[in-house]
Amino acid sequence: MCQKENTVASYKNIVVLTGAGVSAESGVATFRENGGLWEQHRVEDVATPEAFARDPDMVQSFYNMRRAQLASVGPNAAHSALGLLEKKFDGHVTVVTQNVDNLHERGGSSTVIHMHGELTKVRCSYCRNVFEWQGDCTQASRCPGCFNQPALRPHIVWFGEMPFEMDRIESLLRACDLFISIGTSGSVYPAAGFVSLVRSIGHAHTIEVNLEPSDGASYFAETRHGKAGSLVPLLVDELLV
Ligand code: OAD
Repeated sequence: MCQKENTVASYKNIVVLTGAGVSAESGVATFRENGGLWEQHRVEDVATPEAFARDPDMVQSFYNMRRAQLASVGPNAAHSALGLLEKKFDGHVTVVTQNVDNLHERGGSSTVIHMHGELTKVRCSYCRNVFEWQGDCTQASRCPGCFNQPALRPHIVWFGEMPFEMDRIESLLRACDLFISIGTSGSVYPAAGFVSLVRSIGHAHTIEVNLEPSDGASYFAETRHGKAGSLVPLLVDELLV
């Protein structure tokens, strides 16, 4: 597939995919690195619908711990640079994140799609409504909408469940002229397949920013390896010339 040459000035629609690496310098653990979350907890114990059915208290406490951590971390230079890009760029910028933290919003981004859900929300298994949630959620928590209990689960996409807003994401990927992937190992689909979809359409430039080459690094036209907190502000500077 021949890729059209784009210049910085010609970009109008940017999609930025982010993963745990963008929040690493804020002190939020990644999943698959040494000491990562999946080394400390088994996916089958805390991140599947079966785990929640078997031991809801354990699953709730895993997400309560991660929700509580949000109060002690803040956006880093990469989040802030992406917030600035959205404000100053003469075109559209959408952040599609696999992260369930709220650091993109706190870094100034307002168009953020949380494809794997959000720690600051819970969902009712009875009335299906989604609610903003601060503090702990337990099996004793009552649904603010239908008042059932136990009823609430973390508004998180678990393994075996469909990520949120896939139709909207696919439309954005098809329309973008610049696709940037930041801080993701490229090992979880469907996000890991976004770069192939973009390249198959053939009109967008693709850039990977990651600490090290990801599993999908060879699919990107351009790769930049190092810390997101250093590399993303530089990239944003280039895009705002
Ligand atoms: P991973 O933990 O798989 O990968 C994080 C990536 O970030 C690695 O490739 C690191 O090299 C890179 N990284 C670490 N620190 C960085 C830094 N300061 N700057 C730039 N890159 C850095 O996390 P994800 O790819 O986000 O899903 O994982 C994808 C999904 O798998 C998650 O959303 C989660 C997990 O299971 C669910 O829970 C459904």
